Amino acid sequence: MAPRVALVTGGHRRLGKAIALSLARQGFDVAISYRSGADVAQQVAQELRGLGVRATAVAAELTDPVQVQQLVDQVTQQFGRLDAVIASAASYRPTPLEQLDAKQFDAIMMENARAPVDLLLAAAPWLRQSGDGRAVLMGDLAGFTPFRGYLAHSMAKAALHAAVAGLAAEWAPQILVGGVAPGAVLQPAELADPDWRRLQGAVPMGQTALAQPEVPVEAVCAAVLWWLTCPRYAAGQVLRIDGGRSARW
Ligand SMILES: NC(=O)c1ccc[n+]([C@@H]2O[C@H](COP(=O)([O-])OP(=O)(O)OC[C@H]3O[C@@H](n4cnc5c(N)ncnc54)[C@H](OP(=O)(O)O)[C@@H]3O)[C@@H](O)[C@H]2O)c1
Repeated sequence: MAPRVALVTGGHRRLGKAIALSLARQGFDVAISYRSGADVAQQVAQELRGLGVRATAVAAELTDPVQVQQLVDQVTQQFGRLDAVIASAASYRPTPLEQLDAKQFDAIMMENARAPVDLLLAAAPWLRQSGDGRAVLMGDLAGFTPFRGYLAHSMAKAALHAAVAGLAAEWAPQILVGGVAPGAVLQPAELADPDWRRLQGAVPMGQTALAQPEVPVEAVCAAVLWWLTCPRYAAGQVLRIDGGRSARW
């Protein structure tokens, strides 16, 4: 069987990179997209090839539908197929209500909801052709329970969760669509250490995460891999990977 090809957006840094590496370890050929940091992206592509798979890094501003189409074209020209798309790239911008204006609101909706859906729409013909096409949208716990100070981000992720269900239904049975909604998994650069520790302190599995920061990242990677390998009947759900925060055990 020909190796399956996966595209991971934002696959050059942080969670996207961890997901790309975990898929390569499972034998997927991997394309990653990046917006800035061409050198970093090429290094990650090299690291992926070091795992014995084919890999490429493609620059794309994902809020531009022309570049989104070019991304899909470039990946499929190089690999001849596309079996899975993991839409991981996103923004995480605070919007205190007193500062929230229409321009900012639209930009955050575009970055977190519309752009990932545009990508899936562009990739759909290839995913359909795959015979076992799968798409994973990276949501956020904020899409279920809005974070204070992040109204636009929370609303955009809620819209993305709706897209998981909507596209899964529209594209069944040819393309399986699933979602992953991480909680506090990887410390945002803007969040100071004491604030991160306080946040993890409120998470049932938080002590584990503080002692072994790779544990929550591995859980997200496992959830993504599950969507790429699970029985197709599971389609349309958003898996919360949040250390029990929303379950509150
Ligand atoms: N980290 C967590 O704990 C956590 C928690 C909840 C949800 N999530 C979700 O999980 C996913 C990955 O999280 P992360 O923390 O690894 O993400 P991140 O660091 O916030 O963003 C990943 C990458 O997305 C790219 N990106 C953003 N806007 C883009 C655009 N318009 N066009 C092209 N690329 C763009 C950026 O690329 P450049 O660097 O090239 O600009 C960035 O490096 C996201 O969907 C996030 O919302 C993560």
